[in-house]
Amino acid sequence: MMLATAPTLDVSGLTKRFGGLIAVKEIGFTIAPGEILGLIGPNGSGKSTVMKLIMGIERPDAGTVKLAGTDIAGWPTHRIARQGVGMVFQHSRPLPRQTVLENIKLALLPDSLFRLAAEPHVDHRAREIAERVGLGAVMHRRPPTLPFADLRRLEMAKALARNPKVVLVDEPFAGLTSGEVAVFSELIEGFRREGHAVLLVDHNVKSVAAMVDRVLAMYLGQRIAEGTAEEVMRDETVRRVYIGGKIEAHPRKELDNKGGEALLDVRGVDVFYGKARALQEVSLHVNTGEFVSVVGLNGAGKTTLFNAISGLVPFAGDIHWSGNSLNGRDPARIAREGIVQCPETRELFGDMSVRENLDLGGQHLPRAHREEQLNWLLDLFPILRERQHQQAVTLSGGEQQMLAIARALMMRPKLLILDEPTLGLAPVILEQLSNALGRLRETTPITVLLGEQNVTFALPHADRVYVLEHARVVWEGDPERFAAEMGAGYL
Ligand SMILES: Nc1ncnc2c1ncn2[C@@H]1O[C@H](COP(=O)(O)OP(=O)(O)OP(=O)(O)O)[C@@H](O)[C@H]1O
Ligand SMILES: [Mg+2]
Repeated sequence: MMLATAPTLDVSGLTKRFGGLIAVKEIGFTIAPGEILGLIGPNGSGKSTVMKLIMGIERPDAGTVKLAGTDIAGWPTHRIARQGVGMVFQHSRPLPRQTVLENIKLALLPDSLFRLAAEPHVDHRAREIAERVGLGAVMHRRPPTLPFADLRRLEMAKALARNPKVVLVDEPFAGLTSGEVAVFSELIEGFRREGHAVLLVDHNVKSVAAMVDRVLAMYLGQRIAEGTAEEVMRDETVRRVYIGGKIEAHPRKELDNKGGEALLDVRGVDVFYGKARALQEVSLHVNTGEFVSVVGLNGAGKTTLFNAISGLVPFAGDIHWSGNSLNGRDPARIAREGIVQCPETRELFGDMSVRENLDLGGQHLPRAHREEQLNWLLDLFPILRERQHQQAVTLSGGEQQMLAIARALMMRPKLLILDEPTLGLAPVILEQLSNALGRLRETTPITVLLGEQNVTFALPHADRVYVLEHARVVWEGDPERFAAEMGAGYL
């Protein structure tokens, strides 16, 4: 007989090795019904691996995973799912040809019962779930046409549909605006109210702390602290290896060419996707050596703007680079001329090693420069030096982000375009990246165009800031004036 307070999930001694690396070492915890446990730790500390071990996506080398008393460690994923564990993935993977509603219906039905999808009660329940997660208006659309936040909603809907006893949620807040974070927090709270046990991983420390009952902090695969959010956040080791310090401003010496000719000059640019206007009369410029931040929420048009500059989407209007028009030029040539974009989606070659990805970035450089650049980058991101021979696809989320940035830098760009580089990075890594960008500007003539919704990262570096809202530039100015004039809604 089980007591009401018995834990739904009881993990103990969980261990996983990848070759010589111990990704997870003797991790243990329990989660009771209606309880939320937060799992925090720097990039690569083993959080996602813990979830994959529980879900049966990776096989543990040792340890037990008890679900309501039954040890499910080492079971195949589909059995674990049927037993009552659900995972909300960091990257959504809906069926692209099925509508949102059909995707939810499939999640409602166990594998063998797909033929029941037409039943009215299934349809009714699926609609209910769609409404609950805020997909009511897009139920009949196919996933590839949906914005980022809606894809996340769909993942949440699928988890709700399966009604698991334990829900594993990996980085639900990454890349979401503060408003969207509130909506997702509420959905996760809903899991709690319905008596599910929730394991939550996210680098948005504030939002995690606000919601969880307890926190477990990991570092290098091991437990370093456990307790209430307040206790764990106060812990000295946690502060040192995870939270880090404040992001410092990197003021720079006056540019000597402030009034000079713009390196990049975007004039009255319009972009349409079908009938939807993604950019409207957008004008901005970047001078040589400047660091310009474009701040905007999801869907404001930042990525479209960068893709237009890189030659990846057709536009109307004018874009000039060092005085020459980029209109109609192909992306490869634009990249060779020194405009390098590090896309939000990373675009790494997953089957290749870290080193091979970097070498590809440097293939146009003369050998001597290539070596020098590589060494400099491996100093900048020591984890990449350690992992040179690891397959890119197996890197943790944050490690992949670092590799994408390093590969872009490997090309020695004249203009580096960074699209949401902070996505999925631990606070302490943000600080490191911020310092690296500071050093980059002090030691090289690089010019940077940064797109961010995370203004605490975007402002300290910027010489100038543009705000993009609903496809238009609505504000331009110095970072010092941003808080007073634009702060509400962003800070
Ligand atoms: N299949 C694999 N082969 C080799 N190493 C792996 C494999 N899978 C994961 N790793 C390594 O194990 C470590 C833990 O990875 P994991 O994805 O669990 O980290 P994480 O804590 O989720 O990090 P992040 O916050 O960046 O998402 C990482 O250093 C990663 O590179
Ligand atoms: Mg992870």
